[in-house]
Amino acid sequence: MFKSTNPSDISQVITTVEAATAEQIVAAMRKTKSAQKGWAKLPAPTRGRVIANVGRLVERNKEKLAKLITSEMGKVYREALGEVQEVVDTCDFFLGEGRRLYGQTVPSEMQNKNLFTFRMPVGNVFIITAGNFPTAVPSWYIVPALLAGNTVVWKPSEFTPAVANALTDLFHAGGVPKDVLITVVADGEQTFSALETGLKESIINKVGFTGSTAVGKKIGAKTGEYIQSACLELGGKNPMVVMPDANIDLALDGALFAGFGTAGQRCTSLGTLWIHESIYDSVLAKFTALVENAAVGDPFKDVLFGPMISEKYLENHLAHLKMIQPHHKVSGSTATGKITAKNPRKGFVGDPEKGVFAHPVIVAGVTKDDELYRTETFGPLVTVGKFSTLDEAIELANGHGYGLSSAIYTNDPQNVWRFREGISAGMVSINNSTSGAEAHLPFGGNGLSGNGSRQSGIWVLDQFTRWQSMNWDWSNKLQKAQMDLIEIKHDPNFDLK
Ligand code: UN1
Repeated sequence: MFKSTNPSDISQVITTVEAATAEQIVAAMRKTKSAQKGWAKLPAPTRGRVIANVGRLVERNKEKLAKLITSEMGKVYREALGEVQEVVDTCDFFLGEGRRLYGQTVPSEMQNKNLFTFRMPVGNVFIITAGNFPTAVPSWYIVPALLAGNTVVWKPSEFTPAVANALTDLFHAGGVPKDVLITVVADGEQTFSALETGLKESIINKVGFTGSTAVGKKIGAKTGEYIQSACLELGGKNPMVVMPDANIDLALDGALFAGFGTAGQRCTSLGTLWIHESIYDSVLAKFTALVENAAVGDPFKDVLFGPMISEKYLENHLAHLKMIQPHHKVSGSTATGKITAKNPRKGFVGDPEKGVFAHPVIVAGVTKDDELYRTETFGPLVTVGKFSTLDEAIELANGHGYGLSSAIYTNDPQNVWRFREGISAGMVSINNSTSGAEAHLPFGGNGLSGNGSRQSGIWVLDQFTRWQSMNWDWSNKLQKAQMDLIEIKHDPNFDLK
């Protein structure tokens, strides 16, 4: 049994759901697998119409869904509205894809022969997502997967089952048959065991996973055994580089939002703020003042951030605080750790005792030898370090092996292009924060952040379709490629007089 509670007031139970066993998940997989051929037979424009219906229904229920998100996982209401908008945007993009899903006509090297490509659905997909974006990130998988003719079993975070069930209801109300999308709430162990059976029985043809690098490695290894490559969207330690010529106030707005929005629990959250040595002290002082004076508390009020997703996420944050070393300078709040009446935050909005709130933390003086340099902290903790040259900044920004999102603040185009070329991240922001990707650009990372798969926009179609090529020879004779060549007479030794 899973009980989700409001992290702003843990005495408030949002919902309780039965935990699915591995057998129940496998039963769901078998069911969607047997529905897949029928779903794929529908014309793609018809599936596009269904996605259109879902988009309109999500839009119609935007406030209700956003309220549920804020109540169940604690992100501030304005961000929750933005998250639901991201689902609508994803549906808007893919409803039209139903009338495209283009293949190609390709010229043949022979006469009376034509070549074509077609996008084929992959089959039955298993989507496993996290609690920090309980609707937007799942929609990045589910919407294109369904549009392309796949069926889906979705395992949402056990911390957000009410949101997951609400989103599933909206898909079903929009016309997605109940055996084409099934949602199962389960723990990690049962999920992994079901995944293994699903792969073994060939009833799972693709896995999409958003979550930690550690779990992503396990899923990548398991799917690899069955000659599948999962779509993996993993952690990040996203760098933001501030050059001396930057608009500093703009950079700090970006750092505040990326560092502490969603209480730092986005995979695009700011990891380390790298400040040029010539402006380090003044920028750090300004950043500290901003964070110290920011409102923290009730996510339905005008605050920078609300509670952690759950107690587990708070515990995780507390463990990261232990990585702070004597050479670090800590600032950002009246204390660190859990905000309580005895460990208060200046200006806290609401009653901290009721929920799982954490003090924002700035850890300055981070160097590449520190554990905090290479650890994704996934909480309201931003590390700050200094550099002297752009090359050094790029090296520091890449050196930990993560490569999801990155940002540079500068007004010099040379810095922009050198950074873009040198950074290993899948996403680069110029004078914008590491968070806040738009829903129709490729989203994904490299190295420890992912295996190169990309979500969103047209690029995600390569995750949920396979190319099928067809050649059609209508010459009525066997023409052999590479052998029956049409030779064109020419003079290879010709020189101009
Ligand atoms: C995530 O944290 O997994 O770019 C996704 C952003 C959001 C999505 C984040 N649009 O921050």
